[in-house]
Amino acid sequence: MRIGAVPLPCTALLFLCVGLTRSLKIITPERDSFEKAQGEGIRLPCEFELISDDTGPLTIEWSLVPKDSLQSDQPIILYSGGAIYNKYPEMSNRVHFTSDDPRRGDASLNITGLKLADSGSYQCRVMKHPGTDNKKLLLTVSERPGKMKCYVDGTQEIGSDLKLKCEAKEGTPPLQYRWEKLTGTKKLPLTGKVIEPGVFFVKNASEEYSGTFKCTSDNRVGTDSCLLVLYVAHPTNVAGTIAGAVIGTLLGVVLLAVIVFCCCRKQKEKKYEKEVQHEIREDVAPPKSRTSTARSFIGSNHSSLGSLSPSNMDGYAKAQYSHIPSDEFERPPSNAPNYSTAKVSAPTLSRMGAIPVMIPAQSKDGSIV
Ligand SMILES: *[C@@H]1O[C@H](CO)[C@@H](O)[C@H](O)[C@H]1NC(C)=O
Ligand SMILES: *[C@@H]1O[C@H](CO)[C@@H](O)[C@H](O)[C@H]1NC(C)=O
Repeated sequence: MRIGAVPLPCTALLFLCVGLTRSLKIITPERDSFEKAQGEGIRLPCEFELISDDTGPLTIEWSLVPKDSLQSDQPIILYSGGAIYNKYPEMSNRVHFTSDDPRRGDASLNITGLKLADSGSYQCRVMKHPGTDNKKLLLTVSERPGKMKCYVDGTQEIGSDLKLKCEAKEGTPPLQYRWEKLTGTKKLPLTGKVIEPGVFFVKNASEEYSGTFKCTSDNRVGTDSCLLVLYVAHPTNVAGTIAGAVIGTLLGVVLLAVIVFCCCRKQKEKKYEKEVQHEIREDVAPPKSRTSTARSFIGSNHSSLGSLSPSNMDGYAKAQYSHIPSDEFERPPSNAPNYSTAKVSAPTLSRMGAIPVMIPAQSKDGSIV
């Protein structure tokens, strides 16, 4: 099956025979090596010429020998008897013939959404009995540079040595790196030089080296870049700036804390005032607390009453209470608001034969004593 495996003299002999009989021939340009970036698509060319002697049915077969594999050819796609067979599971939905009708002489293969694993040696084999020919194409799928990182290694002080570093976390080697300055004189520091790929070493840094730098990384299939801002300052200035920043931040925090504290206090005071007012209002008629419970109860059963403000409740409540056979309400209405157990004096109770017992009584402010 694999013509490539046939020793050279035999191939030459075969070619001689084929040449003599004039038969099917793949005529695509000499180029047989392709490199593409991951995710891209490619057309692997395989155009052929037929001769009238070739009378058998046309068969086109594409197969792959993966780069990092010792496996034999893996069929990818087959055209036979007018039908297309897509056999290779990993690629079945990403490969198709470029031509709608390969019979016209174009057996080229299109691959979309290239993956790194698609790298390898592709063979196009065209057969139309007695004619047959094949061609091998090498495809390399590479990763573009990506996930770039630019940073300064060293202190950014006048007179110190530092490194501008640049790194692409992604990308198929070899990766090239290039530093440039975007601001000021647009010239890289004179006392600097590239000491290894992506590393620009600067000796005796000076103030005018400050500015924005750009590092670009390339490989054969793509490019990416990152930026870096260098700020070379006097050591004291650096310390001063840091101290200033720290003190400034601290002051800011303290100020903020004070403001928050004051606000909280003000709100608390307001709340407290409200509470105090509320308590005072309750104090106005503390003995009514029990009756007001009764009122609420009645009120809830007579929703038509609307709001339960004491003014519109008083008359109604009194009218209702007069019918309730409770000793609490048997008292004259004038007494009702001032009702309390303390009204009946202890000596009177004793005279009535009652045993003196500590009875919880409501004090003026409504709490139990
Ligand atoms: C095949 O690939 C080539 C180049 O990548 C492209 O121009 C062409 O449109 C593709 N054809 C089909 C049918 O996808
Ligand atoms: C560093 O640079 C300054 C000027 O920026 C120069 O005066 C000084 O001599 C240099 N020091 C060294 C050690 O090269």
